[in-house]
Amino acid sequence: MIRKTKAACQIGMYGLGPMGRSLALNFADHGYSVATYNITADLTWQLMNVPGLPSLVTPFFNEKDFVAGLKQPRTVMIMVKSGAPVDEVLDRLLPLLDPGDVIIEGGNSDFRDTARRLRVVNEKGVMYIGSGVSGGEEGARRGPSLMPGGNVEAWPVVREMLQSIAARNPKGQACCEWIGPEGAGHFVKTHHNGIEYGVMQVIGEVCWILRAMGMTNDEIADAMDGWNVRMKAFLLEITSEVLRARDDDGSPLLDHVLDVAGAKGTGAGTVVSALDLGQSVNILAAGVAARLMSTNRKRRIEIHELYQLPEPKLPGDPKEWTAKLGQALEAAFALAYAQGFTTLEEASLQYNWKLNLPQIASIWGGGCIIRADILNEISAAFVKEPMLDTLLVAPAFVECIRKGVPALREAVSAAVLGGLPVPALNSALSNFDSMRSPNLVSASVIALLRDLFGAHTFKRNDRPGAFHRNWGKV
Ligand code: 6PG
Repeated sequence: MIRKTKAACQIGMYGLGPMGRSLALNFADHGYSVATYNITADLTWQLMNVPGLPSLVTPFFNEKDFVAGLKQPRTVMIMVKSGAPVDEVLDRLLPLLDPGDVIIEGGNSDFRDTARRLRVVNEKGVMYIGSGVSGGEEGARRGPSLMPGGNVEAWPVVREMLQSIAARNPKGQACCEWIGPEGAGHFVKTHHNGIEYGVMQVIGEVCWILRAMGMTNDEIADAMDGWNVRMKAFLLEITSEVLRARDDDGSPLLDHVLDVAGAKGTGAGTVVSALDLGQSVNILAAGVAARLMSTNRKRRIEIHELYQLPEPKLPGDPKEWTAKLGQALEAAFALAYAQGFTTLEEASLQYNWKLNLPQIASIWGGGCIIRADILNEISAAFVKEPMLDTLLVAPAFVECIRKGVPALREAVSAAVLGGLPVPALNSALSNFDSMRSPNLVSASVIALLRDLFGAHTFKRNDRPGAFHRNWGKV
């Protein structure tokens, strides 16, 4: 059944995978006429056969007709796999577009790719927006958090459409605001994902600790629900859901899930781009590293058989530990979010993006994967002090971390003594212990080592200047 195009469509959706399809339906739900196209017609037909499909959705089966079906100046949203597929689509689409048209690319693209594509597209007079889209398929369908950046002159053209489909945060504000120039939108999305990786690893480790103490999945889910009354974190909410999930035979699904966690690359992108800015994101990096280590399962089994060490079993009363682990989790969350925002601050300064950090915290307050009550504190902290270089000195964070670190220390110690790997919790604790230390002896040792083998000089703590000692080696 092919619908006649009643009028030129207000937006085109190029790419009808789960995200593109959901966004197309979301736009139609909000009264926008949507032209849809997918390089293989199967997904187009799949969309057209969605029960109760809004009449505002029109399918097209070739790119020329797709572009011709759009009201001018045109707006096309591209939702395809990040990387080369985006360039391939642009190569085909650009010759069909005119000056004044707008392309919105909503995949998990690298911010440097976005900046490059923007320059190429602008040569044709077409405007380019690289937008983070967070919230998964459900978010895309019901209300994502959107992080548009690129040609700011395109923002008035698309603002109403994007804000209409976006989620609302607890204050009722649209979870979509202009992020900044070049690839700023995709950079912010990448670092949203970096925080996601770190926090998911923290959650996984807390679950493992409680399991090693003898708690059942349902009991851990109950603990998560208890903590979440205060934390209001989406990731805790869905952790409780996956812990309670049952397999076909009624047994806990989690117990049948292979211990391998995938990663499509945004976590690694976070770590590399943070290091490029001279920022340590050791908690977020621990989340990336833990996933990579999980993939090498065959080798892990071999090493297990070689060393013959017992499975981690932790002593202690799980009920008593529940309160402690809740405090430890909350402190580790705070430290992970703080690392993410410090990198955003540094990117804003070094790339001259003028990022609005309170606004970023606000548009992450709904729709996105890392939505949680802590974002209200973060937004308020940056409103109070826009150039705050670390949230570790923000009063709300000081209170949470001061209360949670003793519990975090106890939890990490118990896990380490029980042979249970807790790279993210441990990184959070070490991050705090480093950041609160007035005398990092390890750094002084490294400074002298570098001077001995590389004559890199060292500074003194009793007088200014750079010094080199004659070590008598040459
Ligand atoms: C989001 C998610 C999403 C996620 C992909 C790939 O904000 O909706 O972060 O974009 O990145 O589902 O997940 P991994 O990065 O874990 O592979």
